[in-house]
Amino acid sequence: MPEDVLGYIKKRTEELNAIIVAHYYQPPEIQDVADFVGDSLQLARKAATTRADIIVFCGVRFMAESAKILSPEKTVILPEIEAGCPMADMITAAELRDKKAAFPDALVVCYVNSSAEVKAESDICCTSSNAIKVVESIPEKKKIIFVPDRNLGTFIQDLTGREMILWDGYCPVHDVLQMQEIEGQRALHPKARVIVHPECPPAITRTADAVCSTAGILEFVQNSPDNEFIIGTEKDFLYTLEKNCPGKAFYAARQYFECRDMKYIPLDKLALSLEKLQYQIEVPEDIRKKAYGSLERMISI
Ligand code: 13P
Ligand code: SF4
Repeated sequence: MPEDVLGYIKKRTEELNAIIVAHYYQPPEIQDVADFVGDSLQLARKAATTRADIIVFCGVRFMAESAKILSPEKTVILPEIEAGCPMADMITAAELRDKKAAFPDALVVCYVNSSAEVKAESDICCTSSNAIKVVESIPEKKKIIFVPDRNLGTFIQDLTGREMILWDGYCPVHDVLQMQEIEGQRALHPKARVIVHPECPPAITRTADAVCSTAGILEFVQNSPDNEFIIGTEKDFLYTLEKNCPGKAFYAARQYFECRDMKYIPLDKLALSLEKLQYQIEVPEDIRKKAYGSLERMISI
């Protein structure tokens, strides 16, 4: 690997007509080198519309898989194949089929944090930015099975008044956030607004000043007259906020707020992935076509 890793990444990206996209939870050096940084919905949209031949995805597997499902003609690379999402692994396609058999009249809404196989078994996907809109697009009389995040599901129920059949999955990074931690930060920063991700437990989403996806938090902060914020989501998202909102102060809602799977791609591994074109994401065509339907229905909302 050359010493000038950043120079190599830039040169190789141009040579390949590649685009580097990164999620907001990626470490600062990866966010800085990426051509595009966003939340799950923005990244899915980018993957569906980019003119690049190769999409290098700095994030976790379900995100890269969604890119491949939406753009099968492109080469999609995940620089570390072990980067997964524990919540996505909390439901399998076979388990979802059993649930559907128990509620044959229900439609399945599936959070994008799920495998391609689970998406293929679902009717429509959602992300945390559009979950309310997606659920509201379904006729009121229709039963809904919501997978896999019970906290996001509960948040949607709270806001829409719709009762859904919830899968018992959760994000191990957000689900452990405690009310006492928020209260501790509120005591230290009494002027700060509390903004949390909907993957946090209901006791927290019900009492926060705002509940948004990562892109939603950024927008909220940019449009807010307030200057201090307690942020209930992954720690490296604070870098995004600080970079985009100079003059405002951000405090992490808890001390250890890290998604380890989002930290598997240091710069040298990104450079290596561009050199060797590894690891290429493949989705079997029958599964891809069905999963495409669920993603496409979401994107068109
Ligand atoms: P966003 O869609 O808000 O980026 O969230 C993705 C995620 O994995 C949160 O844990
Ligand atoms: Fe999955 Fe949670 Fe990490 Fe998001 S933060 S990728 S939901 S484990």
